[in-house]
Amino acid sequence: MTKPKKIGILTAGGDCPGLNAAIRGVGKTAILKYGMEVVGISSGFLGLLHNDYIPMDEASLSGILTLGGTILGTSREKPFKKEHHLANEKPLLIKKNYQKQGFDCIVCIGGNGTMRTASLLAQEGLNVIGLPKTIDNDVWGTDQTFGFDSALLIATDAIDRLHTTANSHKRIMVIEVMGHHAGWLSLYAGMAGGGDVILIPELPYDMKLVNKYLKSRVKSGKPYSIVVVAEGIKKPKKVSAATYIAEKIEEGVGVETRKTILGYIQRGGSPSPMDRLLASSYGAYAVDLIAREDYGKMVMKNGETISYLPLSDVGGKLRLVPPDHPLLEKAYGMGVCLGNPMQGM
Ligand code: F6P
Repeated sequence: MTKPKKIGILTAGGDCPGLNAAIRGVGKTAILKYGMEVVGISSGFLGLLHNDYIPMDEASLSGILTLGGTILGTSREKPFKKEHHLANEKPLLIKKNYQKQGFDCIVCIGGNGTMRTASLLAQEGLNVIGLPKTIDNDVWGTDQTFGFDSALLIATDAIDRLHTTANSHKRIMVIEVMGHHAGWLSLYAGMAGGGDVILIPELPYDMKLVNKYLKSRVKSGKPYSIVVVAEGIKKPKKVSAATYIAEKIEEGVGVETRKTILGYIQRGGSPSPMDRLLASSYGAYAVDLIAREDYGKMVMKNGETISYLPLSDVGGKLRLVPPDHPLLEKAYGMGVCLGNPMQGM
């Protein structure tokens, strides 16, 4: 009889709905399908540095499927970040603690930064499996990260609500959606919420074009407009995207304009059913990989299939909205303004 495997789970980076569903998917599959020992690692990679662990059993996994956030806590600790006097000290300490704990594998749940750290730890000889999560949906190598669908629901609901107040006051409403590098959330929520203007980091925008478009809406008798902007669009450093764009619009169009910054509401609360399913499937699949000792992989979604890619192929690469994305083409065709000179609107 081989000794049952002992696995650690950590959640790192920005939190999102679905993290606990993923933890549950890993934990239940490990314990019930394979009789593995499961240990939670507190606060991302910090827990591995400080030996901060939470033994887990079926009871600890009960009631967390629908729970937002992460029961393990998270941090943005980057152990490979070069700090002068600590060059490589942190990765070596993690490896020592990993070995002292007798882990057979650690499941690292996170975004780009976490996948990069997991890939580097694999190169140091640790057995790791990565699960892609973030509301930004910008992890290269997977069609979807869990967290995205829940944030899309929240952002779309917020945009829906802006229509009624914009119409009551005949205003232009600017809403800022999260997405530091990628415009997936802004594009999807903007289209789902009937945004008239959608600005994303991947497409350069010209405010003269945006204001010309908005003025043409006023002229044609449209009572209000909805402008959706990603937080990561090009703008002066010290000002939020929503503030910058709202000021430019009010100046240029001459219509009362108000802004809403949706912020962390997009990261809070219970996961959507789709995110619960995706996170659970990712977690269960990760344990099947561990059972066959297929390490150094990131679990991913390709169409309807759950599969994996080598972490070395993924490690921290961003998945951005391509300029020829079908939804962009639909937006152009439906007269949505993307602020892009190419559109000539
Ligand atoms: O990566 C997800 C995300 O929510 C981004 O959209 C946002 O810019 C960032 O995290 C905020 O980071 P923090 O939680 O560290 O403030």
